[in-house]
Amino acid sequence: MFSTPVARMTFPDAADVSGDLTQTVLARSGAQAKDFGYKSETAGEFTQWGGPPAVRLTRWVCSAAGRFVESLTGLSLTEAFARSSALEGEEHGAAGRQVRVAASRSWASLYRAGDRHEAHFHPNTAWSAVYYLAAPGACDIEFLDPRPGVDYFDSGISLAGDSHRMRLSCTPGELLLFPGWLRHSVPEFQDESVRISIAWNLSYVLA
Ligand SMILES: [Fe+2]
Repeated sequence: MFSTPVARMTFPDAADVSGDLTQTVLARSGAQAKDFGYKSETAGEFTQWGGPPAVRLTRWVCSAAGRFVESLTGLSLTEAFARSSALEGEEHGAAGRQVRVAASRSWASLYRAGDRHEAHFHPNTAWSAVYYLAAPGACDIEFLDPRPGVDYFDSGISLAGDSHRMRLSCTPGELLLFPGWLRHSVPEFQDESVRISIAWNLSYVLA
């Protein structure tokens, strides 16, 4: 009950695009990036300034997210959207229209020595997607137990990682997909080089 879907998969064309994309991101990491103090993010839409490799990667990410949802629901995106709309008693004018996954926002995150990102989530988004583009080693991310109040009382026996942070160690070329409401954090990056990830906020759109 109340399980949390998280997908982890490898971009099959990573070797084709990683070099160019890394250079493109680094070229925008100076004056065109937003420095938050704890990390920096590129300004503008990655899908627009990243050129053909960014479009190719984004197309795969959206397709992968769609397939993931279809595997979870056992329905096509269009059928799953219609079913949820019916359950909510809503009418989105979706009759006869196809549903697909699209990126509403996309950016690159750059971490340098000492950078980190405290726990947060991505509001108003169906799926958060993060792709690891370049790093000297493992790219760690932690997911927080999303069940409210689970850490209010320790019964003494944990059933399913109660109140724990679940850490995944990914490598460049891997993609993670998780619900926009799932809180996550990036532990401190400790290397003199740079760790680059690409993030997308994904939504369902009517074609
Ligand atoms: Fe995030």
